[in-house]
Amino acid sequence: MARILGPREPSSGGGFGHRARRWAGALVAAAILLMPGVARAQKAAGAVPDTLSITPAMVDAGRALFHGLGTCFACHGMKLEGTQLAPTLIKKDWKDAKGGDLGNIFSVVTHGVPGTLMVAFPGGISKGDAANAAVYVWSVNHRGAKP
Ligand code: HEC
Repeated sequence: MARILGPREPSSGGGFGHRARRWAGALVAAAILLMPGVARAQKAAGAVPDTLSITPAMVDAGRALFHGLGTCFACHGMKLEGTQLAPTLIKKDWKDAKGGDLGNIFSVVTHGVPGTLMVAFPGGISKGDAANAAVYVWSVNHRGAKP
């Protein structure tokens, strides 16, 4: 068998091999072209999620950060009611986080409010943590989440 097929192998097998390689090459090229876009999309999602994709786990993580590592509670109060140091974060006329929009809350947490006690990334939290903290504050205001 091998001897009979032997002479045919280089042409037929080789031809198929070339096509397969071209396909593989095209797939790799497509993957390389698509990768930066995917990475960007994931980064953006990780930064500040669409409000529709907020999960209870994210709200819980944000609550823990607010009362822990992020030290938010120290200035904004245990129930976001505000203290002498900082304003309430519940239903109000937002001064810096315009409209109380999730993206604007996130922006305040990641940029701070220059010249005030509100620093960027309070407590040295990560960007992902900041996103969860913002999700928590937003959800207390818009989804009746427990402060
Ligand atoms: C050291 C005190 C301090 C800490 C800690 C702190 N903040 Fe603030 N925050 C402030 C002050 C003060 C302001 C008001 C700034 C101003 O005068 O405009 C503020 C403003 C804000 C605003 C905008 C309010 C508005 O009216 O638009 C948001 C949202 C916010 N903080 C969220 C957080 C979150 C979330 C954390 C924790 C990750 C946090 N803050 C930690 C002091 C603090």
